[in-house]
Amino acid sequence: MENKNFGYFDDKNREFVITNPATPFPWINYLGNEDFFGLISNTAGGYDFYKDAKFRRITRYRYNGVPMDNGGRYFYINDNGTVWNPGWKPCKTPLDFYECRHGMNYTRITGSKNGIEASVLFFVPLKTWAEIQKVTLKNTTSEKKTIKLFSFAEWCLWNAATDMENFQRNWSTGEVEIDGATIYHKTEYKERRNHYAYYTVTNAKIDGYDTDRESFIGLYNEFADPQCVMAGKPSNSLAHGWSPIASHYIEVELAPGESKDYIFMLGYVENAQEEKFSAEDIERKKNGTLISSQDSDVTLVNKAKAKALIEKFSTVEAVDAAFAELAQMWDALLDKYVVKSDDERLNRMVNIWSQYQCMITFNFSRSASFFESGVGRGMGFRDSNQDLVGFVHQIPSRARERIIDIASTQFPDGGCYHQYQPLTKHGNNDIGGGFNDDPCWLIFGTVAYIKETGDFSILQEPVPFDNEPGTEVTLMEHLRISFNHVVENLGPHMLPLIGRADWNDCLNLNCFSWDPNESFQTTENNSEGSKAESLMIAGLFVVTGKDYVELCKQIGDNAEADRAQKCIDSMVEAVKKHGWDGEWYLRAYDFYGNKIGSNECEEGKIFIESQGFCTMAGIGLEEGMVDKAIDSCKKYLDCEHGMVLNNPAYTTYHVEMGEISSYPAGYKENAGIFCHNNPWVIIGETVAGRGNDAWELFRKISPMYLKDQALHKVEPYVNCQMVAGKDAAKPGEGKNSWLTGTAAWMWLTVSQYLLGIKPTYDGIMIDPCLDSEIKEYSVKRILRGTEYDITVKNPNGNQKGVKSITVDGVAIEGNIIKATPGKHVVEVVM
Ligand code: GLC
Ligand code: GLC
Repeated sequence: MENKNFGYFDDKNREFVITNPATPFPWINYLGNEDFFGLISNTAGGYDFYKDAKFRRITRYRYNGVPMDNGGRYFYINDNGTVWNPGWKPCKTPLDFYECRHGMNYTRITGSKNGIEASVLFFVPLKTWAEIQKVTLKNTTSEKKTIKLFSFAEWCLWNAATDMENFQRNWSTGEVEIDGATIYHKTEYKERRNHYAYYTVTNAKIDGYDTDRESFIGLYNEFADPQCVMAGKPSNSLAHGWSPIASHYIEVELAPGESKDYIFMLGYVENAQEEKFSAEDIERKKNGTLISSQDSDVTLVNKAKAKALIEKFSTVEAVDAAFAELAQMWDALLDKYVVKSDDERLNRMVNIWSQYQCMITFNFSRSASFFESGVGRGMGFRDSNQDLVGFVHQIPSRARERIIDIASTQFPDGGCYHQYQPLTKHGNNDIGGGFNDDPCWLIFGTVAYIKETGDFSILQEPVPFDNEPGTEVTLMEHLRISFNHVVENLGPHMLPLIGRADWNDCLNLNCFSWDPNESFQTTENNSEGSKAESLMIAGLFVVTGKDYVELCKQIGDNAEADRAQKCIDSMVEAVKKHGWDGEWYLRAYDFYGNKIGSNECEEGKIFIESQGFCTMAGIGLEEGMVDKAIDSCKKYLDCEHGMVLNNPAYTTYHVEMGEISSYPAGYKENAGIFCHNNPWVIIGETVAGRGNDAWELFRKISPMYLKDQALHKVEPYVNCQMVAGKDAAKPGEGKNSWLTGTAAWMWLTVSQYLLGIKPTYDGIMIDPCLDSEIKEYSVKRILRGTEYDITVKNPNGNQKGVKSITVDGVAIEGNIIKATPGKHVVEVVM
């Protein structure tokens, strides 16, 4: 495929439109935004789950398959022997037309072949535990057509991890039931599960079905040539164990020009223990009108909730109305911050895609994407606090709940579980704690929440330790012990001890692992007697510590503010004294107290994380350290695609550093362009007033400015975690898209530090840092119910510094606009 572009932006509809199905990697989207979720690729691959991609996986997906992207919600059309899919895959029959529109929590895939156009709209209605697939079939010829439509979904046996490994059990447990057009999946419902799933057609009768994979596909066939579809005939199979699926068969007659809509719905139900079984079904089973693969009466599921939802969405009008509601929700979400500028790529990023990605990372943390299999990681403590900062302006109440959930997994000494499971909300014992940056992020998240909402009451919420009832203290107390955790864990240079790792999960200074069978993160942490200290935590502590001091003052605790300020001052001194290498900030001291990220080192002389956080903290600003550090980043880390994490890359394994040196040069934490920490440097550049530099780096990291979609490989509409660095085989190739802290940091950077509209306790602070080419832009910002219509003019092409501000025509002192109700017109001159 020599065409470099595979799609384009449709800003009016807030969509990315893919025009060639053979994208360089599956380009995906997310359905659902609260409880029921789906991942969907541009060829309809992917899966659904309820809340937790590990414990409640509803449909089956095969990661890392051959071919790529195996399993999904497939519609097959058999038109007189020609078999095709509207999304091209899995049959890959060449289509006359193909288009995939990824929008805000929905995807519409359209394909046409031999005069039949098939368009499928996939979405999850608000507050609904089901995915709707509205299939529109149109005959564009002048002849009557009769086609055969088959749907397909494969059930996952709930626990996505055991589903892939425990076949001695799995192949005997599968149970289904067919009731009219509805296929129920009720494996294990008989025993401890109180949930089942179903796949149905709500507005039409079916002409057949299949529920057993082998009968439908054939043992040696593939998704691309299921034997029933090829033969044009379902087998009405009933699954007993093995691999239960759900496929509907419908014969569709279409007059010339006629189009028909079929509403498919794939849903999930939970029943209370006392309502698990229904008397009516027991009766129907006795008189033989129920088709089920079970023998025992007690296994019959109570279908009341499923039936009610099927009824609710049994008309096209109801489905269209639900779809309109989803769009309205996004209208409202995206109305809180709207930029207008001459740069359509900037507008597109700020007004649509960045905010959308922030919602997605907030929902999933690092759990489920096409790079995160949904079984490994739940919600990260540090990840989720950062994600929150990108999301809090959208739905503050959900951010509030999240803060409490996260804080509830903290330990009494301020340490934290590194991850927790979304379903149980309990800390994840497999990985444990000991990542010494984690506590700081709780301050980071909470402060962002209060600045957005003005809701100080959250600080008084009782929050337990390690989810243990009876241990509750206030959230403010959690923040205090978070702050103290750093202060109480200082090393020989009075810099923070690193623990298992800091933000960089792969800088494992205390693990000394020689065993390839253990994970670097969970192997024994030999921190006893360790001198390993982190400059990244030092910078992070100063940044979030200043926030903590300001918060203490806000609530009138000046004594605590003074105490905290002294700790910060000593940290700043320690960094200046022991953390400065001459031209940049050191990265760390290792177990033995040797320098990491110093000019004295052979490899890994300079690292991005400490440059980012120490410049952001403004440490040594007066002494010129910030400028020097930024110059060094530009000199050693920067390249065409962004800044690499460290330089030179490690070429050998260093047992005293762990995973970082395990990666080939140019990838991941070993000199990859970790997009997540580029914004830290951009913010550092704004601290130094270097607008041109800041915008240059910003445009390298934002996918909106991508030049080569093929090289970038992953989705061009969202950030990815890592782009291969200058030492890699293919610099510029992206990996690990969607679920990355880059989303929130890019949002924070562009909205607050570049365009410079910052929520503060008192109102809004205006502090832009601009590329001197930018002469004017406006931002509409709704904060705590007040609308600010802000126009920024930069007639002289300055990079930083506000000259004057008027609010509703009246000049104000300083650059903070006090929150007063109503709607205000703000004019800013730089
Ligand atoms: C991943 C993790 C994040 C970590 C980063 C660097 O993105 O989700 O927690 O900080 O890698 O290792
Ligand atoms: C690996 C990855 C890192 C990620 C971590 C999570 O170390 O390189 O990016 O944060 O796994 O466990």
